[in-house]
Amino acid sequence: MPAKVDMDKIVSLCKRRGLIFPSSEIYGGLASCWDYGPMGVELKRNVKDAWWKTMVHERADVVGLDTSIMMHPEVWAASGHIDSFTDPLVDCKSCHLRWRADAIEGERCPECGGELTEPRMFNLMFKTSMGPVEEEASTVYLRPETAQGIFVNFDNVITTSRKKLPLGIAQIGKSFRNEITPGNFIFRTREFEHMELEYFVKPGTDEKWLDYWVKERFDWYAKLGIRKENLRLRQHGKDELAHYARDCYDIEYLFPMGWSELEGIANRGDFDLIQHAKCSGRELSYYDAEAGEKYVPYVIEPSAGVDRSVLAFLIDAYDEEEVEGEKRAVLHLHRSLAPVKVAVLPLSRNEKLTPLAKEVFKQLCPNFVTGYDDSQSIGRRYRRQDEIGTPFCVTIDFESLEDKQVTIRDRDSLAQIRVPIEELDKILAAKLGGEAFDASTLWATRDK
Ligand code: GAP
Repeated sequence: MPAKVDMDKIVSLCKRRGLIFPSSEIYGGLASCWDYGPMGVELKRNVKDAWWKTMVHERADVVGLDTSIMMHPEVWAASGHIDSFTDPLVDCKSCHLRWRADAIEGERCPECGGELTEPRMFNLMFKTSMGPVEEEASTVYLRPETAQGIFVNFDNVITTSRKKLPLGIAQIGKSFRNEITPGNFIFRTREFEHMELEYFVKPGTDEKWLDYWVKERFDWYAKLGIRKENLRLRQHGKDELAHYARDCYDIEYLFPMGWSELEGIANRGDFDLIQHAKCSGRELSYYDAEAGEKYVPYVIEPSAGVDRSVLAFLIDAYDEEEVEGEKRAVLHLHRSLAPVKVAVLPLSRNEKLTPLAKEVFKQLCPNFVTGYDDSQSIGRRYRRQDEIGTPFCVTIDFESLEDKQVTIRDRDSLAQIRVPIEELDKILAAKLGGEAFDASTLWATRDK
């Protein structure tokens, strides 16, 4: 069953509501590059924060790292990326479009039916030169994964953190791949962000830890609101495993173009540490003092794309509903992911209402990402907040001037409740923390 929304609707919503814009748009755009707008940057940051909280802050066995994008070129020889990080490329002899040979059906050009060249292997790493002289010796690569920054720092982290294995090292950062066929909005781009964990374990316990991380990661998406029926697991066949992987599972999401990879969880074995030890001449092993044994750890790697996760969260949250005879588009985003948590909306732009509304905005700002909107009808403003997934709207009306109370409207149930302004922060914090939107309790609070 295809997803209930097509990609065009998501792309258009993202443009309209300041989530994601085509890159360099005033120059006609740059293929498959996208810019995150004021709402998008908040959403993307919330996705990364949610990942970091779950994967680093809430665990005693994981630490973080932030390594450079450009690394010593020998890193990529050791990791196998120079030789093996390739896709088979074919050219159309008629229209000259290029295709990934393994991603097209048949033997003719999907665009014009023209004859295709023989496949040749195309390396996906971007090359650039470091320093003022462009020569072979100054070639460096933009990293295609953040993982290698972690492997080359394994010894630094183990020595300085004084932690025991199993130990995870987590990193979020930009990666670059010169994809032959990018597309489907932010699903496949040439510049994207990775959220990667390298979890170092004792050999022999690796299969158990692979199962553990597959479940953890699947549950993470579900906990943040993705419907379980739109998620599935797929184990890689032996013929599709990456050059470093002993085993791998993809968490797939039902995107509008069909089931596609959202995250990969691989058992990388000791491939990377062995390679880097061999090529750098530095020993990369772990001494287990309690057992009195030394070994090269195996690595379990949950590797997710920030942008691809943002896309899945957007698609899964999108809905169109009938409200009071009118259609509304709404993002039922998880509260922790919503770009704006609460919007302050005076009933109208009125000289009596504005000062109180501004006061409420100032009161909420330090605690919540707060929006303010007083243009056009209140109905329109609710719709605009619904479209960016704002969980709560606070309305200031003429009665508020007298009784110092405001109305909170819940995005999902559309229920409205009236609460004292002085209790607003406490009530919103509880609701954003997951407390049910229970009107009766709130009325009781007001009456106290
Ligand atoms: N270090 C392992 C690794 O990079 P991968 O399966 O190539 O594994 C992991 O990538 C995740 O990164 C993917 O599941 C996807 O979410 C994201 N990703 C990979 N290539 C991407 C691209 N060109 N554009 C956007 N996201 C991408």
